Amino acid sequence: MCGIVAAMAKREVADILLEGLRRLEYRGYDSAGIAMIDHDGGLQLHKYSGKVAILEQALALEPMQGGIGIAHTRWATHGQPNALNAHPHVAGNRLALVHNGIIENHQALRQQLEADDTAFLSETDTEVIVHLLAKAVNGGATLLAAVQQVIPQLNGAYALAVIDTENPEQVVVARQGSPLVLGVGIGETFAGSDTLALRSVTDTFVYLEEGDVAVLEVAGYQLFAANGEPVERPKTRLEAEHESQVLGDYDHYMLKEIHEQPARLADTLALDPLDCTVFGPRAAAIFGQVSAVQILACGTSYHAGLVARHWIEQYVGIPCQVEVASEYRYRQSVTLPGTLIVTISQSGETADTLAALKIADNDHIVGRLAICNVDHSAIVRASDLVFLTRAGAEIGVASTKAFTTQLVALQLLAANLGRNGALSTLNNERFCATLRGMPDAVAQVLALEPTIKAMAAHFTLKHHALFLGRGIYHPIAMEGALKLKEISYIHAEAYPAGELKHGPLALVDDDMPVVAVAPNDELLEKLRSNLEEVRARGGELFVFADEAAGFTAGEGVHVLPMPHCSDMAGPVIYTVALQLLSYYVALAKGTDVDKPRNLAKSVTVE
Ligand code: M6R
Repeated sequence: MCGIVAAMAKREVADILLEGLRRLEYRGYDSAGIAMIDHDGGLQLHKYSGKVAILEQALALEPMQGGIGIAHTRWATHGQPNALNAHPHVAGNRLALVHNGIIENHQALRQQLEADDTAFLSETDTEVIVHLLAKAVNGGATLLAAVQQVIPQLNGAYALAVIDTENPEQVVVARQGSPLVLGVGIGETFAGSDTLALRSVTDTFVYLEEGDVAVLEVAGYQLFAANGEPVERPKTRLEAEHESQVLGDYDHYMLKEIHEQPARLADTLALDPLDCTVFGPRAAAIFGQVSAVQILACGTSYHAGLVARHWIEQYVGIPCQVEVASEYRYRQSVTLPGTLIVTISQSGETADTLAALKIADNDHIVGRLAICNVDHSAIVRASDLVFLTRAGAEIGVASTKAFTTQLVALQLLAANLGRNGALSTLNNERFCATLRGMPDAVAQVLALEPTIKAMAAHFTLKHHALFLGRGIYHPIAMEGALKLKEISYIHAEAYPAGELKHGPLALVDDDMPVVAVAPNDELLEKLRSNLEEVRARGGELFVFADEAAGFTAGEGVHVLPMPHCSDMAGPVIYTVALQLLSYYVALAKGTDVDKPRNLAKSVTVE
């Protein structure tokens, strides 16, 4: 999704803005631009379709100078990903603006502005904002007053930053529904879509609240709440930058992040699994009242929720509903008394999950728990309880280590929800031993990488793939299919294997690879019969099977022997193998593994 960087400093800021954009690349984007006010007070603008590297090359040929500027990576929503639609958008030679979010009433605003002879240069929703601001400043308003006048006219979500050549001492920023954080330096102030963007220049941050407007100056910043009153927000000092952002010897962040999983799981498991305060100081009081769970999430995080439903219903014995947040938020749902709302989100900024969390607000709810990888994110801040996964920054758009650490967090949740009643199946030494053994079990799967790579070669010319799993492994099959389609662009669908004969079997022929997740559990024989049905129709099988499950490779049947594991460790372990399969298929196809087309890491718009 779009990324914003803004800087106001005594020193030159072009390189700081560029570095910020590079650090935001992981979010996904299709064009990039910078606007600065030069030392003579003139507005300079560069914007291009394509990667930040193109912008960088242009700046090398035609450098920008000055201590004030804004920069942007755009993920197209309104209008094509071309240079005209790229941000910053300008009003004459005076104002330049960058925006992340969607202005829902842009058409009405555009019509009003066009009726007043405003000429538009782009197809974007954003451009209305800069023209509304121009009207206000041309009418005599200060830049701050102009922003405060215009934002009440905007419906939708925004994080924005604007500069004015008539006021080269200030950048004004504002947020509502899209993330924005201030970075505080000495003799310089910054803003960015996330802290990663600014970690090369500061470790001190101020998280803006909904409706906040801030003025960035060399000497510091002024902050105003939605009601226009000055307000103070806490400063947060972050620890030294994590190694997560360094690619090292790996070709892609995704592969690095897959390989980091034993260490990241060990970090998450360093917590006492049966100490509920890891969910926050109010956890014991809230967990004691829980008699139902409603999980809300999107994409991979939703799959983590589907796995958790099995653990919660089986081991805790209370109802657990799981729903994609984009559906839940617009549906009249019935909340059971004593419901704990659990949101799962790597980024903590997913617009649909945040909106679902906010509407899930009624008398039956006993608390809101966020399972999240980003501290201080919007979802974390809107929750009563928080479990921070210790995945470290995840740069690859395809979620890997964030997912497996979410699974561990959800195991700890199940264990802690179950511990107070008779349902304490999880609170035993076997459970703790399984958790402790997880990093080693994942390392064993990583050792299978050469075999998985060889298996992946069979997929590169295929256009479709089916993933099958049963029980708790159906969501793992869904996650495997999502990974494959995200990064290799092969159409992949997951089914509970028992559903095969109710429709998808019609698709099976010798051109349809079928991936099966086959642990040695009570559903194994059922799954085996389902796979026979595939073989009988010429489908080529790729079976990720427990080494003791008795599958043998043969014509049309490829078997990856997986270490034996329980239903607690299995979802993590099989996921890692499927991540590697997708990675090597994408690698062989030559796609952009870390930044797949059309996708964004942080989905901050609806
Ligand atoms: O940041 P979140 O976990 O809330 O993101 C939810 C989805 O957008 C995300 O999981 C997406 O499906 C990933 N690209 C999956 O790899």
